[in-house]
Amino acid sequence: MAGSKLKSMYICSECGYESAKWYGKCPSCGEWNTMSEEVRETGKSSSVLPAQKRQPSAVPVPISQITTEDEQRYYTGLKELDRVLGGGIVKGSLVLLGGDPGIGKSTILMQMCSHLGKILKILYISGEESKRQIKLRAERLGVNSGNLYIMTETDMAVIADQIQSETPDLVMVDSIQTMNYRELSSSPGSVTQVRECTNILMRTAKALDIPCIVVSHVNKDGAIAGPKVLEHIVDAVLYFEGEKQMSYRILRAVKNRYGSTNEIGVFQMGDSGLSEVENPSLMLLSGRPKNVSGTCVACTMEGSRPILAEIQGLVTNSGYGNARRMSTGFDYNRMSMLLAVLEKRCGYFFSSMDTYVNVIGGLRLDEPATDLAVALALVSSLKDIVVPENLLAFGEVGLTGEIRSVNQAVLRVTEAARLGFQHCILPYHNLKGLVLPKNCTMEIIAVRNIREAVSALGG
Ligand code: TYD
Ligand code: MG
Repeated sequence: MAGSKLKSMYICSECGYESAKWYGKCPSCGEWNTMSEEVRETGKSSSVLPAQKRQPSAVPVPISQITTEDEQRYYTGLKELDRVLGGGIVKGSLVLLGGDPGIGKSTILMQMCSHLGKILKILYISGEESKRQIKLRAERLGVNSGNLYIMTETDMAVIADQIQSETPDLVMVDSIQTMNYRELSSSPGSVTQVRECTNILMRTAKALDIPCIVVSHVNKDGAIAGPKVLEHIVDAVLYFEGEKQMSYRILRAVKNRYGSTNEIGVFQMGDSGLSEVENPSLMLLSGRPKNVSGTCVACTMEGSRPILAEIQGLVTNSGYGNARRMSTGFDYNRMSMLLAVLEKRCGYFFSSMDTYVNVIGGLRLDEPATDLAVALALVSSLKDIVVPENLLAFGEVGLTGEIRSVNQAVLRVTEAARLGFQHCILPYHNLKGLVLPKNCTMEIIAVRNIREAVSALGG
């Protein structure tokens, strides 16, 4: 192209950081081995779509004259997904669905088609599977809609043209890493390609007011650009999480311009695809060992829903000089802090002990209210004290060993009571506003500090 020059850049596939020099560790996000070289043409405009009409948004309007009534949402037929989206897919929005390969992204898209196909014309664009493969999956999931159009294409310009000519009501792209815009010299899956393809999709979809769901793989070794580099472009970012070996899948919103990011959706992968789990606590607590030490139930708020989760701790003598610490589903640094508090404020010594914390069910707990249950599970394992199976604990542990109050205490206690729990250790400062329903027979054990909590267990 006249006037353009080729220039080599190094771009981090994790966060999109750009540099003229290669680094082993990305200076921006700290990930190793994610900088890859991309050749770029400089002096070239990035406006790649055919000329568009000027948007009415270019004219300033007083805020009082803007109406919100025309925000139209489509319910997906999956209540858990609607909850995470903030009440269905908003017309004209771009939603990114990220997750490890094989977690169930294509499956959930196809299941959405089963309900939405009845009311909307859907264009499903796949760059990964053949039409036959998609049909086979659709048959297995019982999806058969005359409104569902399948296209196997990876050329972004062709896709944009098709969207403009077909004008579907909903577009699904599986996956963005396979898409390719030929004006760019870098390979599909590179940061530049992934970004530009998403931009093209966004401009096409926004201009026509078509909602669009884009699948993006999470890739740990940095070979392809991950969803992080797209987070700022799209309206909502949902992540599908879970252990592949286990059947639960948790859908979490990390960004949502049309709703809260606290909500999670819980699914179970089975023979006929994903089914919704309406009562996650019951599922997470099933199969709990009885009468053993090293386990305690916590209650965490996921958005507006209280969820009970079992936390296991294992403390054993370390065979080597430096003790091993491992944490799954709970922040490692927070666990170290709890161990230090237990050591300093309660006199329990963990320094020569290997310590493991595990949250059952592949759940990730990041609410400080779960501190107390983690601490109790660890003490229970260390001292071999059994925490009664109908007891739960919640509260934030401070550095002086104090138990600080948490929000939504009533909701947590009533949910636990509903599931048959009879004793609850909670922060003393939560007692004030704690008005429980009359029929709630939960024994409340209010504690001021970690020492009191441990002695409530008989430690
Ligand atoms: P898939 O949606 O293809 O994953 P992704 O698009 O995120 O890469 O789902 C992959 C896994 O789900 C695969 O290992 C098989 C499993 N699966 C079931 O167990 N039951 C089903 O009904 C379907 C469709 C898939
Ligand atoms: Mg897939």
